[in-house]
Order: sequence, then structure tokens, then C-alpha cells
Amino acid sequence: MAVRTVLRMGHPLLLQAAAPVQSFGTAELRELVADMDDTMRALSGAGIAAPQIGVSLRVVIFEVTHNPRYPQAEPVPYTVLINPTLDLLGDERDEAWEGCLSVPGLRGVVARHTNLRYRGFDLDGRPLDRTVTGFHARVVQHEVDHLDGILYPQRVADLRWFGFEDELFPDRSALPPG
Ligand code: NI
Repeated sequence: MAVRTVLRMGHPLLLQAAAPVQSFGTAELRELVADMDDTMRALSGAGIAAPQIGVSLRVVIFEVTHNPRYPQAEPVPYTVLINPTLDLLGDERDEAWEGCLSVPGLRGVVARHTNLRYRGFDLDGRPLDRTVTGFHARVVQHEVDHLDGILYPQRVADLRWFGFEDELFPDRSALPPG
């Protein structure tokens, strides 16, 4: 287990579509997820995708408990999600601030679908099927975008709502969720 270097926006691997995992429950896959855990926790991320640590596989993890980077966010259970598929439910979207470990120090307003069904597999290949809303739905859409080579700044519709977090939110207690 180790805290790995997070690739930053501009690295070409972050723009690639990642490959599906073929074998579940392997030592390699456990080691990858352990490194993702360590890295996400060390940086207080709400989630991380394997390509962010340089591994182009369709693996994401996420968790929101008491997160200093997202102090007002609703809790999201710790989840390992492999080979995910998303069903965006309905047309309702909401806008909220997002950040990303690959885009350090910045925040932007992104519209995401409010209601989401997601399916995939855990580390041992057991199926996962959840229907979620709000911040949980937002985190999953953000992380799964990484597997398709998309970073959230590509989804900021109005670049006036994209900037450095210490300029936008000088009082960190006012840091918004998402
Ligand atoms: Ni991200």
C-alpha cells in the first residue's frame, strides 16, 4: 500500500478511455485499490479513479464521511466500483461546485444529473446496483467521467464559475459541497 502520485490535468493518460478489468479478486487488483484508498485519504478526496494514479483500468472508489474538502456534503458509503455502467434517470439536473485531485486548488460549477442508477462490480466481482440522488450521484458521474478521459473543467458551462478555491472561498468553512 502506498500513497501514489496523482497525475494532473495536462497528462495525456487522463484523456484516455480506460480498459475494463478482466479478472476480479486478484492480488494486483487489491493492491491497486489499496493504493487508491491511501491516495484518496491522504489528499482528502471524495473519490479517485485508477487513471489518476496512472493505471488505465475502469476502477473507481469513493467515500464521503467527514471530509474537510466537502464539509457540507451528504455522506456517501465507501464503494469500490469496477467496470461501471450509468443510467442517467430523467432530465433533472442540478448545478454545484466540484473539485478534482487532478486539478488541485481549483473549483468549478458543473451541472450533473440529479438521479442516477449505476451498476458494476466490487473487488471480488460481486455485482453492485444502486439508484441514488444528489451528491452521491454527482460523485459517481465525476469519477466515471475519468474512465472516459473527461475532467470536470470540460463540463463547466460558464467559465466565470471556475477559479481558485482560495479566491472563491476565502473562508474555508464556506467551502461548498461538490
Ligand atoms: Ni476527479
